Amino acid sequence: MIDAQAELFWTALAGLPRPTLKDLFADPARLARYCATLDLPGGPILFDWSKTHLSPEVEALLGSIAAAMDLEGRRDALINGEKINNTEGRAAEHTAQRGVGKDTSVEEAEALHARMKMLVDAIHEGLLGDVKSLIHIGIGGSALGPALAIDALTRDGAKVAVHVVSNIDGCALEAAMNACDPTTTMIAIASKTFTTTETMTNARSALDWLSENGVDDPYGRVVALTAAPEKAVEWGVDETRVLPFSETVGGRYSLWSSIGFPVAMALGWQGFAEFLDGAAAIDRHFIDVDLAENVIVRAAFADLYYAQVRACQTRAVFAYDERLALLPDYLQQLEMESNGKRVLADGSPLTRASAPITWGGVGTDAQHAVFQLLHQGTHLIPVDFLAVKVPGHDLDPVHHQILLSNCFAQGAALMAGKASEDGARAYPGDRPSATILCDDLNPATLGALIAFHEHRTFVSAAMLGINPFDQFGVELGKAIAKQIDTGAGEGFDPSTEALLAAAGIGG
Ligand code: F6P
Repeated sequence: MIDAQAELFWTALAGLPRPTLKDLFADPARLARYCATLDLPGGPILFDWSKTHLSPEVEALLGSIAAAMDLEGRRDALINGEKINNTEGRAAEHTAQRGVGKDTSVEEAEALHARMKMLVDAIHEGLLGDVKSLIHIGIGGSALGPALAIDALTRDGAKVAVHVVSNIDGCALEAAMNACDPTTTMIAIASKTFTTTETMTNARSALDWLSENGVDDPYGRVVALTAAPEKAVEWGVDETRVLPFSETVGGRYSLWSSIGFPVAMALGWQGFAEFLDGAAAIDRHFIDVDLAENVIVRAAFADLYYAQVRACQTRAVFAYDERLALLPDYLQQLEMESNGKRVLADGSPLTRASAPITWGGVGTDAQHAVFQLLHQGTHLIPVDFLAVKVPGHDLDPVHHQILLSNCFAQGAALMAGKASEDGARAYPGDRPSATILCDDLNPATLGALIAFHEHRTFVSAAMLGINPFDQFGVELGKAIAKQIDTGAGEGFDPSTEALLAAAGIGG
């Protein structure tokens, strides 16, 4: 049900005066108020939200909405393992995976991690033969996290080369197979449900590839990462190589569980443990720091302000660091699958905008492609910039200097704009951005960045009253595809029927 009190505050928020960013910076205390550096296990991270339209007045009303929606109570319910995923009757216990949560859930996660560590260490020590590569097969939440972490953290080399394969398009698996020697390759099948069509089809083909290429016991090369261990065993995976995780860990929140196996394989256990620690430090910030000083809550407040009050339909994320090139993809699933909903947790209609569309790319490339619209288009698009102080390469420092100066220049230009008599050359300015600047990019920093975004997404959901932990919107298309594949589907619309006939598939 719509919360009447919260609605009154939303209305008041919409009616507030709208000073420009330039006006807001007339307050000499602004930078100190909206720019915070957290000392985290991977090194400091600076969160600069000063170039957004947040102000004490805006925050006060958002704070009142938070109180009306019991944000703190919902946060505590999340952390304490209450069944906040009401539509699926489950808790959402990803924080327990990093040691923050209900005691029994933390203990269970630790026991499962210990089992995973044993297998990872055994493979690294050569107890399962010579393993040089791992093909990690999964999709959505079972692939995007591993792909991001491995791309971000192993550019200088990995203990085992990991290839993440998600798409059902055989080109994806073929590329991974072409890069690997079947006799020294293991296959990880990552699927929470162990039923996902793409993953199971790719897994079957990978197994065929092993057996067709001289591997006597292909099943002996397979590890399963799943919340449905019985299904993995039924499929043929040896019980000793099934790494389970709890049903209460959602797919897009599962990187911390055994879905992180490829990350541990690539980095070594120590690196994976640091990744968890970095995330846990953000959990503690979320729990311990007052809402008014909380960087997570502040980011979510700005997100809500732009989506609800300024009608921004998208938000953009640009990583000014090649190593974080996959972060926008990761955040797309996290934010859009979590908060792209049209009903509240109780099933009643959501009468305001749901999550904005998350999109983005990597700087400086994006500057030469899409930034035109950010600066002069008619849409208002809040932008996040992410950058890292220490470069990820050994080339001339001039590369990094230019990279960072461009990152900061874009935020400055979006805000300042530039007047011109010539309309085509005028920049309206007053366009918001936030900047996250990490000292260093390492497992702990990446863990912190991801956990920051998880909780930011959660705060938005709590403030709107939606359940961010289900994803029923993905089911209808899957069901229709199955009908087509099994020949059970008939009587589609004329366009679909014609497409099926033209491609020569179905019925
Ligand atoms: O179809 C969407 C989805 O269920 C995601 O939520 C999930 O991360 C992905 O598919 C993969 O699911 P599974 O891990 O069960 O294979």
